[in-house]
Amino acid sequence: MTENKQDSLKKPLSRREMLKLTGVAGLGLLIGGGGAGGLMALGRKGSSVAAVEPAAADKQGLPFYGKHQAGIITPAQDFICFAAFDVTAGSVEELRRLFRDWTAASAAMASGQMIGEHNTTLNTPPTDTGEAAGLTPSRTTLTFGVGPSLFDGRFGLKGPKPRGLRDLPAFAGDALDPQWCGGDLCVQVCADDMQVAFHAIRNLARIARGHAVLRWTQEGFQRTGRADPAGGTPRNLLGFKDGTGNPDTTDAVLMDRTVWAQPSDGPGWMAGGSYMAVRRVRMRVEVWDRSTLKDQEATFGRHRDSGAPIGSRGEFDPVDLQAKSTDGQPLIPATSHLRLAKGDGSQQILRRSYSYSSGLDPKTGQLDAGLLFISYQRDMDKQFIPIQTRLAKSDKLNEYTVHVGSAVFACFPGCKQGGYIGETLF
Ligand code: HEM
Repeated sequence: MTENKQDSLKKPLSRREMLKLTGVAGLGLLIGGGGAGGLMALGRKGSSVAAVEPAAADKQGLPFYGKHQAGIITPAQDFICFAAFDVTAGSVEELRRLFRDWTAASAAMASGQMIGEHNTTLNTPPTDTGEAAGLTPSRTTLTFGVGPSLFDGRFGLKGPKPRGLRDLPAFAGDALDPQWCGGDLCVQVCADDMQVAFHAIRNLARIARGHAVLRWTQEGFQRTGRADPAGGTPRNLLGFKDGTGNPDTTDAVLMDRTVWAQPSDGPGWMAGGSYMAVRRVRMRVEVWDRSTLKDQEATFGRHRDSGAPIGSRGEFDPVDLQAKSTDGQPLIPATSHLRLAKGDGSQQILRRSYSYSSGLDPKTGQLDAGLLFISYQRDMDKQFIPIQTRLAKSDKLNEYTVHVGSAVFACFPGCKQGGYIGETLF
């Protein structure tokens, strides 16, 4: 090998360079193993092989390190790849190592780098599966949480189980299928590119080999930024704008009140984290598509086109639950999703849901499509559970939806560079 070539191998490699290299010299140039242990991120893109420079704004990606994990109050990207894992590790040390490795790999992927370190002597599989080579960071966020089952005594964890971290109670109408429920750990990967998001989940699962196994996954989408450059509120598969009533994520005081677990809430390891509720909600789209527009609007309590509360014009017009029509009936019906979700306004949650479409239900031949509902809150008992209890009981939307999956996770606070996600617990 010439000196020049040796030098170039010491330089940091970008996804694009790595691809080129594997094409030239074969996969054996990259060390493999893929297991937890000593993963290292390779450096950023050099100038020599960057044929197409990504847009400046997307060059660096979103910061992975920080006080809070990204992917909670950061703006929603176009796609999600969600995965729940079951832990097979035998000790907390193993878990700690897994999270250290996941952290290093995640920081690399969030900034568009390849995972893994270069070794010319070992003939083992590459540390990065390669399908994101040459792609931009795509605003990738990776958000990690732990489920109630992690606290079943297997690991003797340092921190106590949070009071509110338990499986959700059974709600009226639930039709939960165990294949979409629970998990010891979760990672929510969101990105503006599906291949980049998939790459992240796949590589995290690979790194976890021998320590954790995938339990269930769900991919999801919204309209893309390309299709909606103005960035309006996305519509769900029932055609309505979904997210209008979310609390303002730029209001730090409000976020502390509604989303972030506070030190006084206990346990200490969760301060700066957030509780995540996940519900896989299947939509009976065929039934919905046969209902009238009037019925559809009465179901949500909002107009379909504008997203405005019934009787108003603008999407963000205040919701007046007292408003009556000329015949004395409430404009926003008693069983509408809006009225029931809002309640007296004292409980708020931050929704960050994605639509899903997972082919056909083999039993009925109907579309298996719906909403991967995800919400973040400071306290499950005071926020999500009372809202969902009201909705499950009388929401008109229940005629068209069925909850088939359910999980709860405590999402850690963020960590500084040099630290790792989960360090406050492990
Ligand atoms: C397939 C299931 C669901 C669909 C299609 C759906 C759709 C919608 C739509 C269209 C709105 C009105 C616009 C907006 O503010 O975003 C809304 C509002 C809301 N939804 Fe849902 N939703 C679903 C499930 C849930 C669940 C499970 C919860 C929580 C337990 C929930 C909580 C809320 C809240 C809190 C609001 C805002 C109410 C307010 O304005 O204060 N939704 N949803």
